[in-house]
Amino acid sequence: MSNLQTINESETPYYTWTEAMAIGHPMIDEDHRHIFDIANRLQAELLEDPEHSIVGEVLVELIEHTGGHFAREEALMQAAKYPGYAVHKHEHEVLMEMVNDLHHRFMNRPGNITADVAEFFRKSLIPHFMNWDMKLGRSILAAE
Ligand SMILES: [Fe+2]
Ligand SMILES: [Fe+2]
Repeated sequence: MSNLQTINESETPYYTWTEAMAIGHPMIDEDHRHIFDIANRLQAELLEDPEHSIVGEVLVELIEHTGGHFAREEALMQAAKYPGYAVHKHEHEVLMEMVNDLHHRFMNRPGNITADVAEFFRKSLIPHFMNWDMKLGRSILAAE
């Protein structure tokens, strides 16, 4: 499948952050928007550079920023004595395993992860923001 077909088959292969995704907590929202930026850079490299020359680098950036973001959210949950801390942290661990696995697979078989990257964002990471983090945001804002 050519890159052009991929683009034509869906409305857009890129990820659009909208206000509806806002948690209402400035740090969390800024981190999420930053992750959308990295996701779009990764998607652009996968679709537009046939050599995928910096895909590995962008994946490392995604791993680092996502890991940092999860740590910041976990610190926030602990400070707020958030009752859902343990299960939410476990969700973060599962997501980190997924993103580390994408990187591992890319390093072993470059060029074969485009659909998996899209699935990770659309079915796992963005739904985490919309469900788990939205619930966390509501709880923190209600307590303030
Ligand atoms: Fe988050
Ligand atoms: Fe989270």
